[in-house]
Amino acid sequence: MRYVTVSHLKDGMILGQTLLNQNFGTMLSDGMQLEEHHIRKINDLGYGGVYIRDPRFEDIAPSDIVKTDTRIQLIRSARELQQQAESGYFERSNIRMTKVSQDKLIMPVMEEIIANPKRMLDYVDAKPYEDYVYYHSANVVILSLLVGIEMGLSGTQLYELGLSSMLYDLGNIFVPKAILNKPGKLSPEEFEEIKKHTDLGFEYLRNHFDISIEGCMGALQHHEYYDGSGYPNGLKKDRISIFGRIIAITDVYDALTSRRPFRQPMFPATAMDYININSGTKFDPKVVAALRNVVASYPSGICVEMASGARCIVTENTPGFTDRPKLRLLKGLSRTPLNVDLTQSGIFAEAEISHIIEL
Ligand SMILES: [Fe+2]
Repeated sequence: MRYVTVSHLKDGMILGQTLLNQNFGTMLSDGMQLEEHHIRKINDLGYGGVYIRDPRFEDIAPSDIVKTDTRIQLIRSARELQQQAESGYFERSNIRMTKVSQDKLIMPVMEEIIANPKRMLDYVDAKPYEDYVYYHSANVVILSLLVGIEMGLSGTQLYELGLSSMLYDLGNIFVPKAILNKPGKLSPEEFEEIKKHTDLGFEYLRNHFDISIEGCMGALQHHEYYDGSGYPNGLKKDRISIFGRIIAITDVYDALTSRRPFRQPMFPATAMDYININSGTKFDPKVVAALRNVVASYPSGICVEMASGARCIVTENTPGFTDRPKLRLLKGLSRTPLNVDLTQSGIFAEAEISHIIEL
């Protein structure tokens, strides 16, 4: 398989993954031949790109960190929660979510990630921008758990982190939709309204969920910056809770790699550059290092051009070497070997990835 961005999809290509409709049913099945109207639909739904089957790369089989069903269940739960919160369900019936229902949300995904020996994202997640909020929540849960495991958090902490990563932005239900969804620049007054979602989210979690104070801190502190320039309290460094520091990064990383109505998604390597540039200012360097260790910069199935001009496809990534994938040469200088493993030391200098390309 190889990954193709939506603008490079062509009539006749064979889809390499199942794409879902808004009710999580099958919209387009794995293995089907794409026609012009399918491609339009993929574009209209806001996918950034998809994996397609290519006889040249049959042995390249990128896979998600969790099973498709687990991811769908997580997205579904995020939607249900958001809709319940928006409808006033929790306040009206003065309901607290029980530990049992929360366990059903978090435990399956947490157990699957812990059991996966690779524990890294080596996959470009196909997500539509319709229903962005729910897909985003699911991704932040998965990313935060990967980072939390990498940082050595205990099982209890991981559970609370997973829950916090699902709920941290619920305070947005108190912000007027017109401000929340405003495409242009916000006025200072509008930004003050937006800022309230952190305090309000913290209170909301305390009142309606069976979650620790540490878990609620994810809602309160996910817009704090490491250098003290964030909100609501301008806290610095370790004064910000570990959940606040983790979600501050996983929230931004997933937003950057998602397609939005106003821009195409960034590839992981580019989003990681943004995170790295802001390490020590916006973001905690320890959390940045952990994210770098669990996210492949060049996921399997992506095509890249090397500094030498050679063109390659990424065949696989190795944990611990997330920006040094294994590559197969497609076209290049005759002295370039057919397969290059960038994890090996002593490889020639031109074996540096220059940029991502389309075939
Ligand atoms: Fe937020």
